[in-house]
Amino acid sequence: MQNAALAALGLGEEWSYEAIDVAPEDFEARVRAMAGEGFAGANVTVPHKEAALALADVSSEVAREIGATNTLVFADGRVDAHNTDAGGLIATLPGSPRARRALVLGAGGAARAAIWALSASGTVVDVSGVDVWNRTRARADAVYAELGRYVELGGAPVESLRQDSYGIIVNTTAVGLHGEDPFAHLPLDRSGFDAEQVVVDMVYGDAPSPLLAAAESAGATTVDGLEILVQQGALSLRIWTGREAPLDVMRTAAYSLGNS
Ligand code: ATR
Repeated sequence: MQNAALAALGLGEEWSYEAIDVAPEDFEARVRAMAGEGFAGANVTVPHKEAALALADVSSEVAREIGATNTLVFADGRVDAHNTDAGGLIATLPGSPRARRALVLGAGGAARAAIWALSASGTVVDVSGVDVWNRTRARADAVYAELGRYVELGGAPVESLRQDSYGIIVNTTAVGLHGEDPFAHLPLDRSGFDAEQVVVDMVYGDAPSPLLAAAESAGATTVDGLEILVQQGALSLRIWTGREAPLDVMRTAAYSLGNS
């Protein structure tokens, strides 16, 4: 996706994007060596997003508030940390016609970015509060307490919930990644969606996830994880190159890989 974008921008000769596999114990040394090796920046993914923020010399307010970075820039001998996961999610959301609550399922790093995104002022969606559900309740409480310091949440960690009270439902849990039935593991009913809702599933594959398929059949607006991946990647590319990302090129590349 990034290489396709770089080629489309005419930067394919100078720039390239590659995957580097690194163990947690080698992470900091690896990142600090990268600037000297000619890297302009990096994306960081699970499980390194928190460690990357901790080692950064400078970090954006968003990255600090979320507590994780997915985008590093190497400049003037410094490591700068950004977070485009939240912006990527925001970019996928349609404007919501009426203020309703949002529900975030999960309490990991992806949930933190989603909670922040939905609570951020200037978000395109009109959200009156963000509730958080997680299988392990204590993690939902902890995330809520921590992010509550920065954003006006106006919601709560919840154990039982009314699915039809939410305008936006975001699944950030791993449920569905390995074919699990989301309706067996999450507090949602297959038949409980409505046409006014926006349903986001970070899980993606070559067909709509069972969660999105059920939401779609109720007429809900759906967003899958691949579109969020594309949007966060476009924001990262802009940070590194200063150029507008060719979204269509990135989407085509991502979807053709996602479907292969
Ligand atoms: P990430 O940082 O990518 O969000 P994570 O920290 O491993 O990853 O979080 C994974 C999320 O999926 C957690 O919210 C986890 O719930 P727990 O905190 O209870 O572990 C959730 N999850 C994973 N498998 C699940 C399942 N079978 N049912 C419900 N939730 C599940």
